[in-house]
Amino acid sequence: MTVTIDLKGKKAIVFGIANDKSIAWHIAKRLNDAGCRIAAAYQERVEPLFLPLMKEMDDPIYEKCDVVSDELLDSFFKKVKDEFGEVDFLIHSIAFAKKEHLQGDYMNVDRRGYQVAHEVSSYSLAELSRRAVPMMKNGGSIIAMTYLGSEKVTPGYNIMGVAKAALESSVRYIASDLGPKKIRVNAISAGPIATLAASGIKDFADMLLNYVAKAPLKRNITADEVADCALFLCSDLSKAITGQVVYVDAGYSIMGV
Ligand SMILES: NC(=O)c1ccc[n+]([C@@H]2O[C@H](COP(=O)([O-])OP(=O)(O)OC[C@H]3O[C@@H](n4cnc5c(N)ncnc54)[C@H](O)[C@@H]3O)[C@@H](O)[C@H]2O)c1
Repeated sequence: MTVTIDLKGKKAIVFGIANDKSIAWHIAKRLNDAGCRIAAAYQERVEPLFLPLMKEMDDPIYEKCDVVSDELLDSFFKKVKDEFGEVDFLIHSIAFAKKEHLQGDYMNVDRRGYQVAHEVSSYSLAELSRRAVPMMKNGGSIIAMTYLGSEKVTPGYNIMGVAKAALESSVRYIASDLGPKKIRVNAISAGPIATLAASGIKDFADMLLNYVAKAPLKRNITADEVADCALFLCSDLSKAITGQVVYVDAGYSIMGV
C-alpha cells in the first residue's frame, strides 16, 4: 500500500517561526510541501530572519503578532479570516520564560516570571484555539509543542517544565471541548533540538549528549522528524487520535535510568 499525504486545499495557522532552525518553520514547510497554505504569525523582534523564509513558501500570508497583545491578535485573526475564510490546522510552537528562571533553583521563580511563562507558553493555546475554532468549520487538528521536563525534573528547565505541564493538561481539556466539532488536539513532546529557544536553557549541550548516551536509538532527533509527526497529526491517518502527547524523542522518555 502506498500512502501519500495530500493537504491540497487545506489551510494552517502557524505560531512560532523565528528563523530557519525553528520547529515551527520545519512544520510549516512540511505542511506547505504537502499542499497546505500557511498563515504565519511572527514576533516583531524576529522579522529580519522571518521575512526571507516566506519567499520559500507557496502563497503564504503573514503578519506580526504577539500572544500577549489582544490588539495584535485581533488584527492577525482578522487577516486570516479575510484571506482564508476557513482554516484546518493550528500549530502552537511558542514558549517564553525569562532567562534567569531557566537556571538555578526552580523555587526562586518570582510571581511575574511565573505569570509570563504561563501566559505565553500555556494559556496562549486556549486563546489561539478559541480564536481559530470559528474558522475550523470542517473539523481539523491543533498541535502544541512540549518537552519531557513537564513530567520529569530536568535541571535548568524549571519554570518551563511547570508551564509545559499546564500546556499538556490544556491539550487534554481542549481536546475534550473540541471533540464534538471533529477538531483533534495533540502535543508533540520533542527531544532537545538546538534552536533559539533552546539556547536560553542552561547546560542545553549536556542535554543533547545525554540523549545520545541514554535514548534507545542512541542519537538526537531533528526538527524534520518533528515535522513528519506534525504532518501525520494533521492528516486523516491520525483521525482517531486526540488529547495525546506523542513523543518524538528517540525513545528517551521510556528509560528509567
Ligand atoms: N528546541 C527544543 O529542544 C524543544 C524541545 C521540545 C519542545 N520545544 C518547544 O517547541 C516550541 C518551539 O520552540 P523552538 O525550539 O522551535 O524555538 P524558537 O525560538 O525557534 O521558537 C519559539 C518561538 O516562540 C515565539 N514566541 C515567544 N514569545 C512569543 C509571544 N509572546 N508571542 C508570539 N510568539 C512568541 C518566538 O517568536 C519563536 O518564534 C516551543 O514551545 C518549545 O518549548 C522545543
